[in-house]
Amino acid sequence: MDIKDYLSNKDFWDILCFDTLSSTNDEARRLGFDGAKEGTVISAKNQTNGRGSKGRTWLSADGEGLCFSVITRPNIAVDSVPAITLIAGLSVCTAIRRLTGIDALIKWPNDVVVGRRKICGILSESFASGYDLDFAVTGIGINCDTLCFPGELETIATSVIIESGRRINKARLLAEVLNEFEINYRAFVEDGFETVCEKYKALSAVLGKTVKIIGAQSFEAVAVDIGKGGELIVLEGNAERAVYSGEVSLRF
Ligand code: BTN
Repeated sequence: MDIKDYLSNKDFWDILCFDTLSSTNDEARRLGFDGAKEGTVISAKNQTNGRGSKGRTWLSADGEGLCFSVITRPNIAVDSVPAITLIAGLSVCTAIRRLTGIDALIKWPNDVVVGRRKICGILSESFASGYDLDFAVTGIGINCDTLCFPGELETIATSVIIESGRRINKARLLAEVLNEFEINYRAFVEDGFETVCEKYKALSAVLGKTVKIIGAQSFEAVAVDIGKGGELIVLEGNAERAVYSGEVSLRF
């Protein structure tokens, strides 16, 4: 079966599949500037220069992962783009749970984890003229068939096959993520992140936990809520703070 056969709404999506690209995000950016429509998806079996957050590399060789980037063109201010990344995390998490039964959760803002190990990373990039977003590229990498991760990844990464013992049909997984993404994204565009916030919170790996917020000034706090815009609300001592960006590590 083809990816299209698994899609709920074939009209919204325009899926371009490649064997090898340097990075699906780079190709999406190029196509975005060329005027590619909202709902264009660039997928590659292998990336030679897969990019992670904070300038890191994303390993994606041997066709073991599912790597793709989604172009969206919502009519929003550029500072609302992080919400799209959260929506992508929610959509991946829901799709993995539904297709595999793996107990995946979302580590704010958008890592999908199983226990303490990461199964999916997301890198969003926005392209704007001034305050208004022109288009966003949401790049998603899901570890699927990797049995052994090299070096330090061995203790912090996991994959669908490690967690479920089964090789997943990647076309099916891609379609399931896109089906979920479309539902959540439409709700967000029409009524804001608030409309999907409860779904997101139900799959949070951090709420109620003590976390370390890693940023310019790192600090420990208890994660207590997700705000209407997707920000993390934490309690540092008795003081409530909203965290809009940064990386979170779980302290058990
Ligand atoms: C992270 O570091 O957690 C983000 C990883 C994002 C990886 C994906 S794979 C598809 C897309 N293309 C890239 O070059 N990066 C993203």
